[in-house]
Amino acid sequence: MAEVVIVPDRVTAGGLVADEIAALLRRRPDAVLGLATGSTPLPVYQALRARLEGVDTSQVRGFALDEYIGIDPAHPESYSSVIAREVVEPLGLDPALIRTPPADDPDIATAGERYDDAIRAAGGVDIQILGIGTDGHIGFNEPGSSFASRTRVKTLTRQTREDNARFFDSIDEVPRHCLTQGLGTILEARHLVLLAFGEGKAAAIAGAVEGPVTAMVPGTAIQLHPHVTVIVDEAAASKLRLDQYYRDTFDNKPAWQGI
Ligand code: F6R
Repeated sequence: MAEVVIVPDRVTAGGLVADEIAALLRRRPDAVLGLATGSTPLPVYQALRARLEGVDTSQVRGFALDEYIGIDPAHPESYSSVIAREVVEPLGLDPALIRTPPADDPDIATAGERYDDAIRAAGGVDIQILGIGTDGHIGFNEPGSSFASRTRVKTLTRQTREDNARFFDSIDEVPRHCLTQGLGTILEARHLVLLAFGEGKAAAIAGAVEGPVTAMVPGTAIQLHPHVTVIVDEAAASKLRLDQYYRDTFDNKPAWQGI
């Protein structure tokens, strides 16, 4: 089962994940990071900055989970801009080694296949950071997405477009389509780290961690993976039935295990 870590706040969560990534990069300077966007992973990227001071990050490789279709790549809310601003520049990564799904590819029907090939050629993702949508999506795999899905074009739900309208001037500006890693693609990463904060994510987290495995809650795909860490604040944990067990487990965990 997923290891569930309940933390007091997002800064603590960011620190835990940043410790893990920094240790990985000290062992393997060319490790492959799976990068999420949205607001959830920001505390991880912020905490990493301090931890990577003095660490050579020039060989780090990375693949973003998803990208909007129909948005100028230079738009500040395109995910390639977000990754450049929040990850590549502050951490001193080589932009040529950090990729976002090529949503402006003229051959969009096969662009996903090539993206998956590139992930495979890099040796696969070592640690995949994930957020979760209020409708249970991971990446932009909306409810109903196949657990075997690969990187491909998806249509965003009305709910997701409403949730993401906060990044734009209005919901009409939120793109309707995206190129997203599939659930099958995400499940190939060696370690999944799913973060969620706030009451609005409590139902999605309870479904993903403890609910029956179903394509209607794409986050339940994590139950099929052998190494998953779910890090949540108290509000996002508030609908978990086994919360006391998760707390006992983490409090009594040997330090050498990390997350
Ligand atoms: C973003 C992504 C999405 C977000 C999810 C939560 O790359 O893949 O699954 O993680 O929509 O978004 P936030 O973090 O903004 O609540």
